[in-house]
Amino acid sequence: MNNFWGKFRTKSITSGRAFTVLAPMEDVTDTVFRQLMVEQGRPDILMTEFTNCDGLASRGREHVIHRLAFTPNQHIIVAQIWGKNLETYVKAVPLLIEMGFDGIDINMGCPVSKVVANGAGSGLIKNPTLASEIIHAVREGIQSSHRRNVGLSVKTRIGFNTVQPEWVEHLLSQPIDALTLHLRTRKEMSKVPAHWEHMNEYVAMRDQINSTISLIGNGDITTKEQLATYREAYGIDGLMVGRGIFDNMWLFNPDKDGSTASKKERIALIMQHIELFIKTWGKSKNFEMIKKYFKIYLKNFDGAAQLRNDLITLRSPEEMLEVLKTVG
Ligand SMILES: Cc1cc2nc3c(=O)[nH]c(=O)nc-3n(C[C@H](O)[C@H](O)[C@H](O)COP(=O)(O)O)c2cc1C
Repeated sequence: MNNFWGKFRTKSITSGRAFTVLAPMEDVTDTVFRQLMVEQGRPDILMTEFTNCDGLASRGREHVIHRLAFTPNQHIIVAQIWGKNLETYVKAVPLLIEMGFDGIDINMGCPVSKVVANGAGSGLIKNPTLASEIIHAVREGIQSSHRRNVGLSVKTRIGFNTVQPEWVEHLLSQPIDALTLHLRTRKEMSKVPAHWEHMNEYVAMRDQINSTISLIGNGDITTKEQLATYREAYGIDGLMVGRGIFDNMWLFNPDKDGSTASKKERIALIMQHIELFIKTWGKSKNFEMIKKYFKIYLKNFDGAAQLRNDLITLRSPEEMLEVLKTVG
Protein backbone atom coordinates (compact mmCIF):
# COMPACT_ATOMS: atom_id res chain seq x y z
CA MET A 1 0.00 0.00 0.00
CA ASN A 2 1.21 3.47 -0.81
CA ASN A 3 1.04 5.05 2.61
CA PHE A 4 3.26 6.03 5.53
CA TRP A 5 3.70 2.44 6.72
CA GLY A 6 5.29 1.49 3.40
CA LYS A 7 7.48 4.59 3.44
CA PHE A 8 8.76 3.89 6.94
CA ARG A 9 9.38 0.26 6.03
CA THR A 10 11.47 1.31 3.04
CA LYS A 11 13.38 3.79 5.18
CA SER A 12 13.99 1.14 7.79
CA ILE A 13 15.37 -1.25 5.16
CA THR A 14 17.67 1.35 3.62
CA SER A 15 18.86 2.85 6.91
CA GLY A 16 19.21 -0.45 8.77
CA ARG A 17 17.40 1.14 11.70
CA ALA A 18 13.87 0.32 12.83
CA PHE A 19 11.28 3.08 12.76
CA THR A 20 9.74 3.94 16.13
CA VAL A 21 6.19 4.05 17.46
CA LEU A 22 4.90 5.34 20.79
CA ALA A 23 2.61 2.65 22.20
CA PRO A 24 -1.00 3.50 22.93
CA MET A 25 -1.41 3.71 26.70
CA GLU A 26 -4.78 4.50 28.16
CA ASP A 27 -4.79 7.47 30.54
CA VAL A 28 -1.13 8.16 29.77
CA THR A 29 -0.54 8.93 26.08
CA ASP A 30 -3.31 11.50 25.65
CA THR A 31 -2.86 14.52 23.40
CA VAL A 32 -1.26 16.52 26.22
CA PHE A 33 1.46 13.98 26.95
CA ARG A 34 2.02 13.39 23.24
CA GLN A 35 2.62 17.11 22.73
CA LEU A 36 5.36 17.01 25.34
CA MET A 37 6.82 13.89 23.74
CA VAL A 38 6.85 15.64 20.36
CA GLU A 39 8.77 18.55 21.84
CA GLN A 40 11.21 16.43 23.84
CA GLY A 41 12.05 13.89 21.13
CA ARG A 42 9.37 12.26 19.09
CA PRO A 43 9.09 8.77 17.67
CA ASP A 44 8.23 8.41 13.97
CA ILE A 45 4.62 7.46 14.69
CA LEU A 46 2.22 8.25 17.53
CA MET A 47 -0.94 6.37 18.51
CA THR A 48 -3.98 7.49 20.46
CA GLU A 49 -5.32 5.67 23.50
CA PHE A 50 -7.70 2.91 22.48
CA THR A 51 -11.20 4.17 21.73
CA ASN A 52 -14.34 2.08 21.69
CA CYS A 53 -16.22 1.98 18.38
CA ASP A 54 -19.59 1.47 20.04
CA GLY A 55 -18.98 4.66 22.03
CA LEU A 56 -17.95 6.52 18.88
CA ALA A 57 -21.08 5.42 17.08
CA SER A 58 -23.38 6.25 19.99
CA ARG A 59 -25.13 9.42 21.05
CA GLY A 60 -22.77 9.55 24.01
CA ARG A 61 -19.84 10.06 21.63
CA GLU A 62 -18.55 13.07 23.58
CA HIS A 63 -17.62 10.75 26.45
CA VAL A 64 -15.00 8.98 24.33
CA ILE A 65 -14.06 11.40 21.56
CA HIS A 66 -11.53 13.21 23.81
CA ARG A 67 -9.32 10.12 23.41
CA LEU A 68 -8.93 11.04 19.75
CA ALA A 69 -7.90 14.66 20.22
CA PHE A 70 -4.59 15.57 18.60
CA THR A 71 -2.67 18.65 17.45
CA PRO A 72 -1.25 19.17 13.91
CA ASN A 73 2.36 18.67 15.05
CA GLN A 74 1.52 15.08 16.07
CA HIS A 75 1.34 13.68 12.53
CA ILE A 76 2.07 10.82 11.81
CA ILE A 77 -0.79 9.96 14.14
CA VAL A 78 -2.81 6.75 14.21
CA ALA A 79 -6.21 6.29 15.89
CA GLN A 80 -6.51 3.07 17.81
CA ILE A 81 -10.00 1.60 18.02
CA TRP A 82 -11.53 -1.48 19.55
CA GLY A 83 -14.82 -3.34 19.68
CA LYS A 84 -16.53 -6.41 18.32
CA ASN A 85 -19.45 -4.94 16.41
CA LEU A 86 -18.90 -4.66 12.68
CA GLU A 87 -21.55 -1.99 12.26
CA THR A 88 -19.91 0.38 14.73
CA TYR A 89 -16.51 -0.07 13.04
CA VAL A 90 -18.22 0.82 9.78
CA LYS A 91 -19.56 4.02 11.36
CA ALA A 92 -16.27 4.92 13.06
CA VAL A 93 -14.05 4.74 9.97
CA PRO A 94 -15.44 7.78 8.06
CA LEU A 95 -15.29 9.80 11.27
CA LEU A 96 -11.61 8.97 11.83
CA ILE A 97 -10.82 9.73 8.20
CA GLU A 98 -12.60 13.08 8.47
CA MET A 99 -10.67 13.89 11.66
CA GLY A 100 -7.46 13.63 9.63
CA PHE A 101 -5.80 10.55 11.10
CA ASP A 102 -2.97 9.09 9.04
CA GLY A 103 -3.88 5.58 10.06
CA ILE A 104 -6.36 3.38 11.87
CA ASP A 105 -5.15 0.64 14.21
CA ILE A 106 -7.43 -2.12 15.44
CA ASN A 107 -6.76 -3.34 18.98
CA MET A 108 -6.75 -7.13 19.12
CA GLY A 109 -4.53 -7.39 22.16
CA CYS A 110 -6.14 -5.76 25.18
CA PRO A 111 -6.07 -8.36 27.99
CA VAL A 112 -8.53 -6.65 30.38
CA SER A 113 -11.17 -9.18 31.51
CA LYS A 114 -14.14 -6.91 30.81
CA VAL A 115 -12.97 -6.30 27.24
CA VAL A 116 -12.11 -9.95 26.61
CA ALA A 117 -15.39 -11.25 28.08
CA ASN A 118 -17.11 -8.99 25.59
CA GLY A 119 -15.22 -10.73 22.75
CA ALA A 120 -13.09 -7.68 21.90
CA GLY A 121 -9.38 -6.87 22.36
CA SER A 122 -7.44 -10.11 22.77
CA GLY A 123 -10.83 -11.89 22.84
CA LEU A 124 -10.62 -11.65 19.04
CA ILE A 125 -7.69 -14.09 19.08
CA LYS A 126 -10.34 -16.69 19.84
CA ASN A 127 -12.52 -15.53 16.96
CA PRO A 128 -10.31 -15.22 13.86
CA THR A 129 -13.32 -15.12 11.56
CA LEU A 130 -14.72 -12.01 13.23
CA ALA A 131 -11.22 -10.51 13.37
CA SER A 132 -10.99 -10.95 9.62
CA GLU A 133 -14.47 -9.48 9.04
CA ILE A 134 -13.55 -6.42 11.10
CA ILE A 135 -10.33 -5.88 9.15
CA HIS A 136 -12.17 -6.21 5.84
CA ALA A 137 -14.90 -3.80 6.98
CA VAL A 138 -12.32 -1.17 7.99
CA ARG A 139 -10.36 -1.72 4.77
CA GLU A 140 -13.54 -1.25 2.75
CA GLY A 141 -14.32 1.95 4.66
CA ILE A 142 -10.88 3.32 3.81
CA GLN A 143 -11.04 2.24 0.17
CA SER A 144 -14.41 3.87 -0.37
CA SER A 145 -13.29 7.17 1.23
CA HIS A 146 -11.58 10.17 -0.35
CA ARG A 147 -8.36 9.29 1.57
CA ARG A 148 -7.52 5.82 0.34
CA ASN A 149 -3.95 6.06 1.59
CA VAL A 150 -4.99 6.02 5.26
CA GLY A 151 -3.00 3.18 6.85
CA LEU A 152 -4.62 0.10 8.35
CA SER A 153 -2.85 -1.82 11.09
CA VAL A 154 -3.54 -4.30 13.87
CA LYS A 155 -1.93 -4.52 17.30
CA THR A 156 -2.16 -7.90 18.98
CA ARG A 157 -0.55 -10.45 21.27
CA ILE A 158 1.03 -13.69 20.09
CA GLY A 159 -1.64 -16.00 21.47
CA PHE A 160 -4.41 -16.29 24.03
CA ASN A 161 -3.38 -18.95 26.58
CA THR A 162 -0.37 -20.23 24.67
CA VAL A 163 1.79 -18.94 21.83
CA GLN A 164 -0.26 -19.43 18.65
CA PRO A 165 1.73 -18.90 15.44
CA GLU A 166 -1.43 -19.68 13.45
CA TRP A 167 -2.99 -16.45 14.81
CA VAL A 168 -0.09 -14.35 13.53
CA GLU A 169 -0.27 -16.25 10.23
CA HIS A 170 -3.99 -15.47 10.01
CA LEU A 171 -3.42 -11.75 10.53
CA LEU A 172 -0.58 -11.65 8.01
CA SER A 173 -3.03 -13.05 5.46
CA GLN A 174 -5.38 -10.08 5.92
CA PRO A 175 -5.39 -6.83 3.91
CA ILE A 176 -3.41 -4.81 6.46
CA ASP A 177 -0.43 -2.49 6.07
CA ALA A 178 1.21 -3.12 9.43
CA LEU A 179 1.09 -5.55 12.32
CA THR A 180 2.36 -4.87 15.83
CA LEU A 181 3.14 -7.91 17.90
CA HIS A 182 3.20 -7.46 21.64
CA LEU A 183 5.33 -10.51 22.28
CA ARG A 184 3.29 -12.01 25.09
CA THR A 185 0.11 -14.09 25.28
CA ARG A 186 -3.05 -12.73 26.83
CA LYS A 187 -2.60 -15.10 29.75
CA GLU A 188 0.84 -13.73 30.45
CA MET A 189 -0.50 -10.17 30.77
CA SER A 190 2.77 -8.25 31.42
CA LYS A 191 4.12 -10.68 34.00
CA VAL A 192 6.85 -12.39 31.98
CA PRO A 193 9.59 -11.03 29.73
CA ALA A 194 8.44 -10.44 26.15
CA HIS A 195 9.19 -13.41 23.87
CA TRP A 196 11.70 -11.81 21.52
CA GLU A 197 13.01 -15.31 20.85
CA HIS A 198 10.00 -15.83 18.52
CA MET A 199 10.46 -12.66 16.50
CA ASN A 200 12.68 -14.11 13.72
CA GLU A 201 10.05 -16.76 13.12
CA TYR A 202 7.33 -14.12 12.63
CA VAL A 203 9.54 -12.11 10.30
CA ALA A 204 10.09 -15.22 8.15
CA MET A 205 6.35 -15.83 8.18
CA ARG A 206 5.70 -12.25 7.06
CA ASP A 207 8.29 -12.53 4.28
CA GLN A 208 6.55 -15.63 3.02
CA ILE A 209 2.92 -14.51 3.31
CA ASN A 210 3.00 -10.81 2.44
CA SER A 211 6.31 -9.02 2.36
CA THR A 212 4.66 -5.60 2.04
CA ILE A 213 3.32 -5.67 5.60
CA SER A 214 5.38 -3.69 8.12
CA LEU A 215 6.15 -5.78 11.18
CA ILE A 216 6.56 -3.99 14.50
CA GLY A 217 7.89 -5.59 17.66
CA ASN A 218 6.69 -4.54 21.09
CA GLY A 219 7.57 -5.48 24.65
CA ASP A 220 10.26 -4.45 27.15
CA ILE A 221 12.13 -1.98 24.99
CA THR A 222 13.82 0.41 27.38
CA THR A 223 17.14 1.45 25.84
CA LYS A 224 18.45 3.39 22.87
CA GLU A 225 20.73 0.47 22.14
CA GLN A 226 17.71 -1.78 21.58
CA LEU A 227 16.23 0.82 19.24
CA ALA A 228 19.51 0.95 17.30
CA THR A 229 20.18 -2.79 17.08
CA TYR A 230 16.90 -4.72 17.01
CA ARG A 231 16.36 -4.32 13.28
CA GLU A 232 19.59 -6.13 12.62
CA ALA A 233 19.01 -8.68 15.36
CA TYR A 234 15.43 -9.57 14.45
CA GLY A 235 14.77 -8.25 10.93
CA ILE A 236 11.77 -6.25 12.07
CA ASP A 237 10.76 -2.92 10.51
CA GLY A 238 9.54 -1.01 13.53
CA LEU A 239 9.72 -0.92 17.31
CA MET A 240 6.94 0.17 19.61
CA VAL A 241 7.75 1.48 23.07
CA GLY A 242 5.32 1.77 25.96
CA ARG A 243 6.54 1.73 29.54
CA GLY A 244 10.13 2.42 28.47
CA ILE A 245 9.27 6.10 28.24
CA PHE A 246 8.26 6.14 31.91
CA ASP A 247 11.93 5.65 32.74
CA ASN A 248 13.28 7.85 30.01
CA MET A 249 10.93 10.07 28.04
CA TRP A 250 13.91 11.05 25.82
CA LEU A 251 14.31 7.52 24.49
CA PHE A 252 13.57 8.69 20.94
CA ASN A 253 15.82 11.75 21.19
CA PRO A 254 19.34 11.10 19.85
CA ASP A 255 20.79 14.12 21.68
CA LYS A 256 19.25 13.90 25.10
CA ASP A 257 18.69 11.35 27.80
CA GLY A 258 16.96 10.86 31.16
CA SER A 259 20.33 10.92 32.87
CA THR A 260 21.25 14.33 31.46
CA ALA A 261 17.95 16.15 32.05
CA SER A 262 18.40 18.64 34.88
CA LYS A 263 16.13 19.22 37.87
CA LYS A 264 15.18 22.61 36.43
CA GLU A 265 14.16 21.09 33.09
CA ARG A 266 12.18 18.35 34.79
CA ILE A 267 10.26 20.79 36.94
CA ALA A 268 9.59 23.01 33.93
CA LEU A 269 8.18 19.95 32.13
CA ILE A 270 5.69 18.97 34.82
CA MET A 271 4.60 22.61 35.05
CA GLN A 272 4.13 22.72 31.29
CA HIS A 273 2.16 19.49 31.47
CA ILE A 274 -0.13 20.82 34.20
CA GLU A 275 -0.74 24.07 32.33
CA LEU A 276 -1.44 22.26 29.06
CA PHE A 277 -3.71 19.80 30.85
CA ILE A 278 -5.82 22.69 32.19
CA LYS A 279 -5.86 24.44 28.82
CA THR A 280 -6.81 21.26 26.95
CA TRP A 281 -9.21 19.57 29.32
CA GLY A 282 -10.47 22.28 31.67
CA LYS A 283 -12.63 20.44 34.16
CA SER A 284 -13.68 17.73 31.72
CA LYS A 285 -10.97 15.31 32.90
CA ASN A 286 -10.24 14.35 36.47
CA PHE A 287 -7.18 16.35 37.45
CA GLU A 288 -6.08 13.60 39.86
CA MET A 289 -4.72 11.68 36.85
CA ILE A 290 -1.92 14.23 36.56
CA LYS A 291 -0.31 12.51 39.55
CA LYS A 292 0.55 9.56 37.30
CA TYR A 293 3.08 11.72 35.54
CA PHE A 294 5.07 12.74 38.61
CA LYS A 295 7.19 9.60 38.33
CA ILE A 296 7.97 10.30 34.69
CA TYR A 297 9.18 13.86 35.19
CA LEU A 298 10.20 14.19 38.81
CA LYS A 299 13.10 11.84 39.36
CA ASN A 300 16.88 11.58 39.10
CA PHE A 301 17.55 14.65 41.22
CA ASP A 302 18.07 15.24 44.93
CA GLY A 303 14.78 15.70 46.73
CA ALA A 304 12.68 14.25 43.88
CA ALA A 305 10.93 11.65 46.06
CA GLN A 306 10.10 14.26 48.71
CA LEU A 307 8.74 16.63 46.08
CA ARG A 308 6.51 13.90 44.66
CA ASN A 309 5.23 13.12 48.16
CA ASP A 310 4.47 16.79 48.78
CA LEU A 311 2.65 17.21 45.49
CA ILE A 312 0.61 14.05 45.80
CA THR A 313 -1.28 15.44 48.80
CA LEU A 314 -2.41 18.55 46.91
CA ARG A 315 -5.86 18.77 45.39
CA SER A 316 -5.68 21.53 42.81
CA PRO A 317 -3.42 22.45 39.88
CA GLU A 318 -2.98 25.96 41.27
CA GLU A 319 -1.55 24.61 44.52
CA MET A 320 0.78 22.30 42.60
CA LEU A 321 2.04 25.10 40.39
CA GLU A 322 2.66 27.28 43.46
CA VAL A 323 4.82 24.59 45.07
CA LEU A 324 6.67 23.88 41.83
CA LYS A 325 7.45 27.56 41.32
CA THR A 326 9.21 27.66 44.66
CA VAL A 327 11.49 24.71 43.86
CA GLY A 328 12.06 25.27 40.13
C1 LIG B 1 -0.98 2.14 31.38
C2 LIG B 1 -1.06 1.32 30.11
C3 LIG B 1 -2.13 1.52 29.24
C4 LIG B 1 -2.21 0.77 28.04
N1 LIG B 1 -3.21 1.05 27.15
C5 LIG B 1 -3.22 0.43 25.93
C6 LIG B 1 -4.14 0.80 24.92
O1 LIG B 1 -4.97 1.70 25.08
N2 LIG B 1 -4.07 0.11 23.73
C7 LIG B 1 -3.15 -0.87 23.50
O2 LIG B 1 -3.13 -1.45 22.40
N3 LIG B 1 -2.27 -1.23 24.44
C8 LIG B 1 -2.26 -0.59 25.63
N4 LIG B 1 -1.29 -0.91 26.54
C9 LIG B 1 -0.23 -1.89 26.18
C10 LIG B 1 0.98 -1.16 25.56
O3 LIG B 1 0.63 -0.50 24.37
C11 LIG B 1 2.12 -2.16 25.25
O4 LIG B 1 1.68 -3.11 24.33
C12 LIG B 1 2.62 -2.88 26.49
O5 LIG B 1 2.79 -1.98 27.57
C13 LIG B 1 3.95 -3.63 26.22
O6 LIG B 1 4.92 -2.72 25.78
P1 LIG B 1 6.08 -2.14 26.76
O7 LIG B 1 6.79 -3.31 27.36
O8 LIG B 1 6.93 -1.31 25.85
O9 LIG B 1 5.37 -1.32 27.80
C14 LIG B 1 -1.22 -0.20 27.74
C15 LIG B 1 -0.16 -0.41 28.64
C16 LIG B 1 -0.06 0.35 29.80
C17 LIG B 1 1.10 0.12 30.72
